[in-house]
Amino acid sequence: MTDSFVAAIDQGTTSSRCIVFDRHGAVVAVDRREHRQIFPKPGWVEHDATEIWCKVQAVVAGALAKAGLEPDRLSALGITNQRETTVLWDRATGKPVHNAIVWQDTRTSALCARLGGTDGQDRFRDTTGLPLASYFSGPKAAWLLDNVPGLRVRAERGEIAFGTIDSWLVWNLTGGVEGGVHVTDVTNASRTLLMDLETLDWDRSILEAMDLPAVMLPRIRPSSEVYGTAVGPLRGVPVASALGDQQAALFGQACYDPGTAKNTYGTGSFLLLNTGERPVPSKNGLITTVGYRIGEQAPVYCLEGSIAITGALVQWFRDQLGIIRSADEIETLAASVEDNGGAYIVPAFSGLFAPYWRSDARGVVTGLTRYVTKAHLARAVLEATSWQTREVVDAMHQDSGVRISSLKVDGGMTVNGLLMQHQADVLGVPVIRPEVAETTCLGAAYAAGLATGVWSGPDELKAHWRRDAEWRPRMAAAAREREYGKWRRAVERSLGWED
Ligand code: G3P
Repeated sequence: MTDSFVAAIDQGTTSSRCIVFDRHGAVVAVDRREHRQIFPKPGWVEHDATEIWCKVQAVVAGALAKAGLEPDRLSALGITNQRETTVLWDRATGKPVHNAIVWQDTRTSALCARLGGTDGQDRFRDTTGLPLASYFSGPKAAWLLDNVPGLRVRAERGEIAFGTIDSWLVWNLTGGVEGGVHVTDVTNASRTLLMDLETLDWDRSILEAMDLPAVMLPRIRPSSEVYGTAVGPLRGVPVASALGDQQAALFGQACYDPGTAKNTYGTGSFLLLNTGERPVPSKNGLITTVGYRIGEQAPVYCLEGSIAITGALVQWFRDQLGIIRSADEIETLAASVEDNGGAYIVPAFSGLFAPYWRSDARGVVTGLTRYVTKAHLARAVLEATSWQTREVVDAMHQDSGVRISSLKVDGGMTVNGLLMQHQADVLGVPVIRPEVAETTCLGAAYAAGLATGVWSGPDELKAHWRRDAEWRPRMAAAAREREYGKWRRAVERSLGWED
């Protein structure tokens, strides 16, 4: 077994990457490609699922070439993906019937309000763990059936398949129109607003309420299991895991024990706390979700604080405002001043997710005076990430009673030392980054390797985890709470902007 390699595909919001790992969980090779972001109207975000599939094939070939490996050296292939993004495709042609509707897209806000009726946003929360919000996939599929001419009839005839990106990739990898396997894993299914958290099956009454034909849905499977074998260039490689990217990061961070948590800083940020084998309902604006399920073992549940926009705010600062040329310039610019100069930015571009769930919120910049420079705004951009994280950590504490004593972090923004220091300051606990920063891919690789016998179980995987960097809080408690108060006043101003 010394020469086992496992590849993982991470199909994210802005790019796809493939990483080849050795049996010690060390990175052997990486390849990455971006795909187009399509913004047809304010609040709408789409991806071309065919383009995504092409980019995925390219990065798998690229990573194998860089590793100098033939596909037959892979013991398994794992998948992790941006969650909630919804694809409907024609089973006969393999072509998507519309662009994928991305998780950030707010077009289903009115539909969600209608579905809530007199019960409101929490109508399906007991069953699914989720509030009715435009973030989740079920309403996106309903919108497509209502708005693409002739689609509903075709879906009812069984001609159309629904999937999140994991389903789309597994189906294509395992043969597509020639016998592709139509499955989704339980973590992705738990983001649809259609799955019962207890039975781990689709809920008929919710399908009826959303008018979604059951025949279009994939089978729900564990996160770590051989779904099928790949065809094409990867012929014969077992496709052996699928997890939503945030759950994969939890798995890659070795958060296998109840009470362990991680925060991943990507396009958005997602803080997940392992709550063990029972779902814990939230009363403070978090969501209850499946963390992972290994084979037929009991599922592990999480409380999650989902923040829609963190890294994407840096991208906006770079691409839409043009204040910096590359994302890493923000740290130098922000470090050129001592504080935010009184400015706060609330990036409610897709409304606000946890703990507010307000689709009527929109972004605001507050506290401006003539003193404020672009460097202060750069600080405000970074600080928006740590304050939003503070809000979900507080909600997590209220819901679970668990007060975290440190926070494991990962994702692109964790290279930013200024941000990580501010994060430790506003939480008042140490922030710890692991040696392998690619925890999302690592988690998918681990789950695939568990399904194919590369690794024996969580204890072996835990032994791989090593600390790389740690930031300790330095801000005085009084200053922290004063600034937190200002942040919360800024959030108030973002609410109720859209009808
Ligand atoms: O729920 C959305 C999340 O899965 C997106 O993750 O890393 O692509 O921003 P990311």
